[in-house]
Amino acid sequence: METTLILFKPDALHRGLVGRVLSRFESKGLQIVAMRMLRMTDEIAARHYAEHVDKPFYPGLVAFMTSSPILALALRGPEAIAVARKLMGKTFGLEAEAGTIRGDFGCSKSFNLVHGSDSAASAERELGIYFPDGLQDWETIQHPWLWDAE
Ligand code: RTP
Ligand code: MG
Repeated sequence: METTLILFKPDALHRGLVGRVLSRFESKGLQIVAMRMLRMTDEIAARHYAEHVDKPFYPGLVAFMTSSPILALALRGPEAIAVARKLMGKTFGLEAEAGTIRGDFGCSKSFNLVHGSDSAASAERELGIYFPDGLQDWETIQHPWLWDAE
């Protein structure tokens, strides 16, 4: 079982797409084990996007991500990191496959609705940024029907 860090970016909130996007993750069987609304600061951005701080798109990315509140979620399930990234689709909505979140809801390069951790190491690091007090370990009544014994 893996846990991944998902962010609903400012465009998802402005456009009123939180419910529809969250529904995709929930319908897939990913379990919410933490959720919080916050404003990303320059400091959080520098930690979260440490790998991108020297990239040309970084200033625009930070301006976008700090422009209004975001939602942070921890989602859990088998191979949750890769499963969430598949649901999200390619980085740019213009290129993302139809049927994915980014493919269905956007055609911008920068405004791409969601963030998802890209590896186990990233997930652990990012979950620590947004949920330093830990996650909610709980068993939903759906478990026996979502995931078999393997
Ligand atoms: P994310 O981290 O948000 O889940 O997205 P990702 O892994 O698919 O993409 P990544 O390469 O990590 O880029 C982080 C975010 O920076 C913005 N971006 N803009 N204009 C550009 O060329 C450009 N490149 C990246 C996007 O918001 C992307 O999600
Ligand atoms: Mg990334």
